[in-house]
Amino acid sequence: MRDYNTLVIVGAQWGDEGKGKIIDWIAQKAEAVVRFNGGNNAGHTVVVNGKTFKFRLLPSGVISENVINIIANGVVINLLALLEEIKEIESLEVKIKKLYISNQASLILPYHILLDKFIEEKRGDKKLGTTGRGIGPAYSDKVSRESIFVGDLLDKNIFKEKLEDIYRLKEKTLTSSFTLPPLEEVYNSQYKALEEILKRNVEIVNTPLLINNLILKRTKVLFEGANGTLLDINFGTYPYVTSSHTISGGVCIGAGISPDKINKVIGIVKAYTSRVGEGPFPSEIHGELAEFIREKGQEYGTVTRRPRRVGWLDLVALRYSHMINGFSMIALTKLDVFSGLEEIKVVKGYRFKGKIIEEFPVISHQISQCEPIYESLSGWKEDLSSIKNFSELPMNAQKYIEFIEKELNLKISMIGTGNKREDLIVIKDPWE
Ligand code: GDP
Ligand code: IMO
Ligand code: MG
Repeated sequence: MRDYNTLVIVGAQWGDEGKGKIIDWIAQKAEAVVRFNGGNNAGHTVVVNGKTFKFRLLPSGVISENVINIIANGVVINLLALLEEIKEIESLEVKIKKLYISNQASLILPYHILLDKFIEEKRGDKKLGTTGRGIGPAYSDKVSRESIFVGDLLDKNIFKEKLEDIYRLKEKTLTSSFTLPPLEEVYNSQYKALEEILKRNVEIVNTPLLINNLILKRTKVLFEGANGTLLDINFGTYPYVTSSHTISGGVCIGAGISPDKINKVIGIVKAYTSRVGEGPFPSEIHGELAEFIREKGQEYGTVTRRPRRVGWLDLVALRYSHMINGFSMIALTKLDVFSGLEEIKVVKGYRFKGKIIEEFPVISHQISQCEPIYESLSGWKEDLSSIKNFSELPMNAQKYIEFIEKELNLKISMIGTGNKREDLIVIKDPWE
């Protein structure tokens, strides 16, 4: 590995680990923040100076001074949603200093959203619980070479021709019970949104070239992962996954950089586990305790407001996540949510078909047959909100951290103690 100034941040679980907050903190010293996967299925919350930002497509660096923000090839972009998000941050008195969008990022068009909802409905009780933002159909079109790129909009004739071609094809290939929205309407609404977006400090460019040049100049570049490792299209709990590459390797695929350009990978781990949508979840908690964690941790979807399913920390899943991502360090978020619990449980292994296993089976129907084997740790009562040093944490909170470090053979370099930017114990600054 050569000595570049790059950091990659990915979610280690099923998303919503608190990536936004950690990215925002690290972005204060960054020069560029790059989104490389997913779309507006992501919801990254950042709370700064009493203002709450919920980033869906915009990189979470957008509120930091002097940061170049980049949306790279691997992201699927709904221009109307992007415009809405830009207006939302403007209403919070934040102006975009600089945003570059890849000319090769695929568009999410209105029919992708309609199709997402249509297919989910047809799945009936086998639904996946998608965010309904058109993510799956947009990536499907990319793989089947039927995507339209953001850059295609820069030439009105090209865009028109591509849209007409796609409509001709879709009309023949889609089921007769699905109706495409009027072509003219799609064409006009895309242009309107793009024109509005380009009135800001936004440019559509060749982002792989831009990103590689920044890296070669030793610029501090932060790659912001969306979703989570166990939602990865290749390595997640398929089919209960999203449709993009959510893992550290996804940076190479989505941003167009070589693996040797990655200096450090930071895994964001929530002190417990959450999941939105369907799919296996061995350490899931139900009842009163789940309610306590959900309320205290405000575990409601950032994008869809759905109540998130919650469970204990799962070391079997995390060991797998570390194997796939190669974490250099971990940021553990939401430790404060545990204050007041007498007992904290952690999954150390699974019982599968009568045998004890320590490896994550990955195959969804096998995971759902796994029974978790727990280790029990003692909780603490103290509120953690004003704590700034590891040594000030209650002894049992320190033990919880040390237990995870030992089990994963990884250092925890940041600990989240609340939702605000300053609610953080920094043991080691990842830039150093
Ligand atoms: P992301 O998708 O990984 O960025 O996570 P979300 O923003 O969807 O969900 C995380 C939620 O937890 C948000 O409401 C954050 O404001 C909040 N949060 C982040 N870190 C902490 C923490 O350390 N403690 C508490 N109490 N809340 C946190
Ligand atoms: P952030 O970046 C949590 C989940 C959805 C659903 C599945 C497929 O905020 O961590 P999709 O709409 O992507 O086709 O839905 O993936 N999902 C997420 N869950 N956080 C996310 O993003 C998610 N992005 C997708 O709930 O189960
Ligand atoms: Mg989220």
